[in-house]
Amino acid sequence: MSDQLLFKIDELKASVEGKEILKGINLEIKGGEIHAIMGPNGTGKSTLASAIMGHPKYEVTDGSVTLNGEDVLEMEVDERARAGLFLAMQYPSEITGVTNADFMRSALNARRGEGNDISLIKFIRQMEGKMKDLEMDPQFMHRYLNEGFSGGEKKRNEILQMTMLEPKLCILDEIDSGLDIDALRIVANGVNSMRSPERGFLIITHYQRLLDYITPDFVHVMMQGRVVKSGGPELAQRLEKDGYDWIKEELGIEDETVGQEDEFQVPMNTSGPKF
Ligand SMILES: Nc1ncnc2c1ncn2[C@@H]1O[C@H](COP(=O)(O)OP(=O)(O)OP(=O)(O)O)[C@@H](O)[C@H]1O
Ligand SMILES: [Mg+2]
Repeated sequence: MSDQLLFKIDELKASVEGKEILKGINLEIKGGEIHAIMGPNGTGKSTLASAIMGHPKYEVTDGSVTLNGEDVLEMEVDERARAGLFLAMQYPSEITGVTNADFMRSALNARRGEGNDISLIKFIRQMEGKMKDLEMDPQFMHRYLNEGFSGGEKKRNEILQMTMLEPKLCILDEIDSGLDIDALRIVANGVNSMRSPERGFLIITHYQRLLDYITPDFVHVMMQGRVVKSGGPELAQRLEKDGYDWIKEELGIEDETVGQEDEFQVPMNTSGPKF
């Protein structure tokens, strides 16, 4: 592990459709570190990932995000990718008409910068090699991106992109969901093989199971759009055993979700207003 601060989130606040979801997130990742983010459903984890990547739906209203000291929030989405941010999405999109290889090559060339395109031969060799490491069938090179991929195949393909692009900060949102036991091990090997003193990981997961394979340096728990608890790997083990109620008790809260409080709910079996 290096002592170099790689990535810093300071008091980040973000809204979606006028509702504040992130309410002041603070996080520091040094080179070489793996941070896991856990937390119940609907507490803002994926929103944090989207806000960091610059998804247009998520409006950052306050705070700062820096990668190697550079202001991430000032960058366009493509600049963020070029600067070395990568997100493996919880629900990867399907893109008909664009093959996996075409997509990968464009992404890689964009990351390498103008005038520095990878040669076709080198690209194919590299992609084939990485696919082999991830035990992916070569046919996935020529299939349309994610179209008809099984849940596990999509997740493996996200890891393929990560290993090809060699990002500085890898955000993995529920990379373990839908993976069978063998695929979980393969994906974890992919992540572990990428560990380096210049690279950091932010791994969003619900389960200790993934962390059996990828040992985090820190574990953070999100509730109500904030990081409410941080610890080492033992925190994830306690959550697996005891769930989240003890943290909610410590905080004195009943509802851990975020963004629901102003919602107008029509009671069941009564004639609410008609829209
Ligand atoms: N694009 C969006 N439009 C409307 N609401 C959104 C949007 N994105 C997030 N939200 C709301 O923000 C809240 C937090 O969602 P988020 O996806 O960040 O939760 P999460 O912690 O990732 O949950 P999970 O563990 O279920 O994936 C939810 O109430 C969600 O409905
Ligand atoms: Mg999520």
